[in-house]
Amino acid sequence: MFRRYFKVGFAFTFFAVALMSLDVARPTAQVIPSRSASQIKMPEVIKLAKGSKQGEVTFNHTKHNGGDYSIGGPILCIECHHVAQPASEAAKFPPLKTVWPTNRTTTLTIDLFTEDPNAAGVAKCHDCHARQGEKPKLMPNIPELKDPGSTTITTLTNQLAFHQACDSCHFQIQMNRVGSKVPNAVICASCHKRPVA
Ligand code: HEC
Ligand code: HEC
Ligand code: HEC
Ligand code: HEC
Repeated sequence: MFRRYFKVGFAFTFFAVALMSLDVARPTAQVIPSRSASQIKMPEVIKLAKGSKQGEVTFNHTKHNGGDYSIGGPILCIECHHVAQPASEAAKFPPLKTVWPTNRTTTLTIDLFTEDPNAAGVAKCHDCHARQGEKPKLMPNIPELKDPGSTTITTLTNQLAFHQACDSCHFQIQMNRVGSKVPNAVICASCHKRPVA
């Protein structure tokens, strides 16, 4: 049940390394093929877990990536959009290895996105981390990971992938910021709001 906490070690390493690398120069932008003719827009507030019995989650994308919600510096796009970097970069943070598009040479940043939103290559989490039993758009199956040191396979459904992505950072903030209003992983209603009956 609390398996996400076992993942925290890696998540923290990623977090710490990401913090340290904030000033490191990123590779310069190169044009990669567009996903579609229509323009991809930067979301402001996203409703997640739509139609879920647990209740919907309101995720403020702007505050999470505009510097309002700081982790000692702005949160990097690739903290969440982990496939939006070259394979050689992703591989520095095992178990990460998959990138999209598969031949990508750029790392998603606000500059890359501003320059050409379509060429920046942003895929929705849901297009790979589909709901249990649903087929993802961009992969043959929902991603799976082998737990370190065991043979257990975890299927990274939307529920597991989002929980891990959101909680690993929030937990770290809770530990470090007294009085923070950051959501608590075990207080489900700190994110999931059920409609008032
Ligand atoms: C804290 C996590 C987080 C950070 C940081 C973040 N995003 Fe996102 N982003 C998301 C989530 C979650 C979605 C919704 C994905 C879904 O619906 O499957 C999203 C969606 C998007 C979309 C819409 C994709 C589509 O096709 O609808 C774009 C564009 C985007 N992000 C760009 C960026 C850029 C550029 C940055 C960095 C400046 C960034 N994001 C930083 C979590 C994040
Ligand atoms: C193109 C498909 C794809 C997209 C898009 C994608 N992921 Fe993943 N994700 C994967 C795969 C595959 C793995 C397994 C590790 C690997 O192969 O890189 C993974 C692993 C993860 C993990 C586990 C990492 C760990 O340390 O155990 C989390 C958390 C995660 N994704 C969250 C997200 C979030 C949040 C988004 C959107 C902002 C997202 N993913 C977008 C394919 C994707
Ligand atoms: C890399 C760090 C990081 C990640 C990843 C992250 N958050 Fe946050 N989140 C923050 C910070 C920082 C705050 C503000 C905390 C404070 O005010 O002290 C915050 C606050 C929030 C809040 C409360 C304030 C509000 O906007 O309503 C919600 C809800 C929230 N996050 C949802 C999410 C969800 C859902 C995800 C995963 C898709 C996510 N966050 C991923 C850093 C993060
Ligand atoms: C940091 C905010 C956050 C907290 C805290 C949180 N969740 Fe979630 N939860 C999410 C997000 C984001 C998703 C992915 C929604 C999506 O796929 O659109 C999700 C997905 C789910 C889903 C799948 C829903 C669906 O639509 O497929 C369930 C069930 C769920 N959570 C239960 C819980 C329970 C039970 C708790 C408390 C132990 C909890 N969550 C705590 C953010 C949170």
